[in-house]
Amino acid sequence: MSLPPLSSERAVAVIGTGAMGSGIAQVAAAAGHPVRLLDARPGAAAKAVEGIRAQFSKLVDKGRMSADAAASAGTRLSAVDALAELADAALVIEAIVENLDAKQQLFRELESLVAGDCILATNTSSISITAIGAALQGPGRLAGLHFFNPAPLMALVEVVSGLATAREVADCLFATAKAWGKSPVHAKSTPGFIVNRVARPYYAEALRLLQEGAADAATLDALMREAGGFRMGPFELMDMIGHDVNFAVTRSVWTAFFHDQRFLPSLIQQELVDAGFLGRKSGRGFHDYREGAPRPQPATEATLPLAAMPCVCGDSAAAQALAARLAAAGVRHERSDSADGRIATAGGAALFVTDGRSATQFASERQLPGTIVIDLALDYASATRIGIAAARQCPEPSLREAVALLQAAGLQVSLLNDVPGLAVMRTVAMLANEAADAVNQGVCSAGGADAAMKLGVNYPLGPLEWADRLGAAAVREVLMHLGAAYGEDRYRISPLIQQAFFAGRSLHD
Ligand code: NAI
Repeated sequence: MSLPPLSSERAVAVIGTGAMGSGIAQVAAAAGHPVRLLDARPGAAAKAVEGIRAQFSKLVDKGRMSADAAASAGTRLSAVDALAELADAALVIEAIVENLDAKQQLFRELESLVAGDCILATNTSSISITAIGAALQGPGRLAGLHFFNPAPLMALVEVVSGLATAREVADCLFATAKAWGKSPVHAKSTPGFIVNRVARPYYAEALRLLQEGAADAATLDALMREAGGFRMGPFELMDMIGHDVNFAVTRSVWTAFFHDQRFLPSLIQQELVDAGFLGRKSGRGFHDYREGAPRPQPATEATLPLAAMPCVCGDSAAAQALAARLAAAGVRHERSDSADGRIATAGGAALFVTDGRSATQFASERQLPGTIVIDLALDYASATRIGIAAARQCPEPSLREAVALLQAAGLQVSLLNDVPGLAVMRTVAMLANEAADAVNQGVCSAGGADAAMKLGVNYPLGPLEWADRLGAAAVREVLMHLGAAYGEDRYRISPLIQQAFFAGRSLHD
């Protein structure tokens, strides 16, 4: 259903003019609305108005806004001192302190002040919309309008409906966010909404891999970037967000889901918080940011020569990319069919893309001591690094041949300890699993989950798009093997992935 957005002549009020409120007010004023700003701290709203006008001037300098548009947007902003001055607003967006009581009290006061058709919106990132709405006589008019930081730059807005939120209210906010140049997605009020829930495995699996000694933080970061195609590795990203903040979000989602193991916080992060190693802002987190500290380097295998003629097997995406890369590098190789799923043979090594089993388990079950498993890459044709693991049974010369083959194809090779599912595959399977559960539980649509993760946290592909590309069967197999390896409920497979597998359908159907 397509409802009209709020007309741009209607006034928008923004309460709380910190980082988020200021950004939101800037967006609303640029879109043509008169915007009233209010903050409990004396002078804060007026300062925010000045700050936003300065932002408009900067945009003019950069040629991204005309001088006329900046001047008129600037005049549409006004700082007010009392709630009563917001009485004519058609939409009030609250961006005050993240506290349920404070938000409820504010909305209670507002409800008696504003017109009956005024929409009340909260920018909360972790408090239940249903719980905030419970304070109102008419909770149908309240919804979440969750912007991302910095609001003027980030396209994603989660439009969050609580149990009582009226559909027309959510639809009007959706249309309005769109008219403001944003990319809204609908979400149901559940812990973490979409992004803060679906992103949990990006951190959680990395922390587990580190805890199990799969590799060090710099190597895992490099793999997620250079093979996985993510903008930042999980450890450098947590260092940037701040461990206090990231740990608090993890704890809040875990608590809100009644301690579901899927969201279990990590002792490693607890230790960092306890130590005050909060990341960039404190000079130290997983990595060391103090002056003169060396940049962390990923573990990379030294270059080895190919001793035997390699053979690329089958026509999987990984095999095709490997053959093309070898051809481009002028490396002679044979081609053959693949009877058992291997993508290549080099000396005594047989290379397989991980299916969630450790190389050691795989080698034992297949009676193939020379088993090498390789990690998932977003695009095997353009990846610059790949993670691999060797079976314990694998003879050293076979491992050396496998490394040499991948290096001959132009890849940097990081040798991981033999953990099930390696780094990228395990993370992507768990991201897809979480997104699938969110869809299955009616939190959002499959397209909404994908859009949220691409726009809200810059993932290279939506988790469900990625799962469709791999196939529900492959994702299910990885999760099944992880579940069997760890015996934990954490890796239980989303019913949506099971359905897609058994029906032979896409996760978007
Ligand atoms: P902030 O601390 O920068 O700003 C909050 C502002 O609200 C302050 O200026 C404070 O004086 C004012 N304030 C507090 N209580 C008030 C009241 N009762 N009435 C009027 N003004 C009051 O906080 P920030 O980061 O802008 O966050 C605001 C909200 O946005 C929170 O609910 C937060 O969870 C949410 N949010 C924050 C994001 C972030 O990355 N910082 C991202 C998305 C949502």
